[in-house]
Amino acid sequence: MAPMAAIKKAVSLAAGMGTRMLPATKAVPKEMLPVVDKPLIQYAVEEAVASGIEEIVFVLAEGKEAITEHFGHLSRVEAFVREKGDRDLLAQVRAPSNLARYEYVLQDRPAGIAHAVACARELVEGEPFALIFPDDLILSSRPCTAQLADAYSACGGSVIAVEQVAPEDIPSYGIVDPVGPGNPARLKGLVEKPPAAEAPSNLGVVGRYILGPSIFEHIERTPPGKNGEYQLTDALASQVAAGEPVCAYSYEGHRFDTGRPLGLLIAGLEVALGRPGLRRRLLEHIGRLSEGGVPH
Ligand code: G1P
Repeated sequence: MAPMAAIKKAVSLAAGMGTRMLPATKAVPKEMLPVVDKPLIQYAVEEAVASGIEEIVFVLAEGKEAITEHFGHLSRVEAFVREKGDRDLLAQVRAPSNLARYEYVLQDRPAGIAHAVACARELVEGEPFALIFPDDLILSSRPCTAQLADAYSACGGSVIAVEQVAPEDIPSYGIVDPVGPGNPARLKGLVEKPPAAEAPSNLGVVGRYILGPSIFEHIERTPPGKNGEYQLTDALASQVAAGEPVCAYSYEGHRFDTGRPLGLLIAGLEVALGRPGLRRRLLEHIGRLSEGGVPH
């Protein structure tokens, strides 16, 4: 196995419109929607930090100022809570600002994930970095990004988190084409959102990657693909075509697609059931609902 690659930087994409969660996301960035009492993007940052990441580059779009404010210092809320003298609450309010170093870049138009990643180029170039989509919330005993960082060392090139997806869901995912079994599994190709009948496997790409430094050259020379957007899947396929090792990694963990109402609801339910202060009453309430039906 190659020496452990220390992955110190992550790019977190938070430029998407959140169309599947409208009207909630009309004024509130989708990454700021809460799972119990924390916004989704804080879970992503906590996962990164627990994986050894020290610097996070957020790729934002217009209208995402709430994210900058959430990770900033000296907000009006912080001042208010300090005045009240509630030290525990103050610690919670301040926690997001102190988790990592933050940088912010703006994607000026929605042109695809590869285009968004390229916006962070100057800040992460020259070393492998993690890429995290906050709307894929992953709960696991070992953080998913840490699992991928290990897999990067084993693979020697870009690593993509994958999981099995149902046939009807294949057209919603990047689908990988592994050379053979193994985990990480080296890839001979990958394709963005194919029809189920043309999919090379049932392993779908989820929103966690470790990208090797050459990714920016491949993004640069990859034309727009599916839906006329610059697809990261195509840039990774270009790394494969150039003979670079690219691997899929079947991570251990449980993913919630919080970009959709049902996924966000289930995530909230599972996180709440893991909280001692909420579990008992929530279960009682669910019990009552399932006995008596929904009251309205
Ligand atoms: C993106 C990627 C896709 C991947 C998915 C994971 O698609 O293009 O390859 O499977 O994220 O969440 P999106 O969900 O942004 O349409």
